Amino acid sequence: MTDQHLQRLLPQIIDDLAGQGWSRQTHILPETLTRELAIECRKRARDGALSPAGVGRGQGLAVREGIRGDSIQWLESGQSPPSDGYLQAMDEVRQALNQAFFLGLEDFECHFASYPPGAFYQKHLDRFRDDDRRTVTAVYYLNDDWQADEGGALRMYLPDETELDVLPAAGTLILFMSAELPHEVLPATRERLSLTGWFRRR
Ligand code: OGA
Ligand code: MN
Repeated sequence: MTDQHLQRLLPQIIDDLAGQGWSRQTHILPETLTRELAIECRKRARDGALSPAGVGRGQGLAVREGIRGDSIQWLESGQSPPSDGYLQAMDEVRQALNQAFFLGLEDFECHFASYPPGAFYQKHLDRFRDDDRRTVTAVYYLNDDWQADEGGALRMYLPDETELDVLPAAGTLILFMSAELPHEVLPATRERLSLTGWFRRR
């Protein structure tokens, strides 16, 4: 099933990524789906399904709370209707990106993430040194009524050397070119929930 509303927003995402390397969208998915995803993320956290996130990959993977302090769980298709709904929506985005940019994006890998109060993720790029498949990053936020004084912004370091802070408010989707845009997660005073994913090429 294709989401009409999402389909209408895709050209804007394409234009933004082509012109500036990033795009911010709000309310791109139905509010009920966002709410269900937030409930599911909190439930997974409460059930102990999330594990401390690592830095690097394969043999080089290590948990380093001084670099990132979130806990994550990867999505797989068939886990729940809301997570399937999200994967399906992101697959529509993937197809649109491929049509516009011939990126050969083959899949979308994605995890729930919970940052406890005080946790952060230091400035980094999303592409690994030894694996350049991650091409476009997509982060979807799940937090109701987020206030600026609660911290927790995604800080993006833009090519023109300005910084842009994005609050992790429910319904906000951020996309950016994984290899090009340095970014960090600032500490917050409350739990910060998101779905973070990467469109990967072959
Ligand atoms: C990441 C990341 C950003 C965010 O997980 O690599 O940068 O806003 N997340 O959660
Ligand atoms: Mn990142």
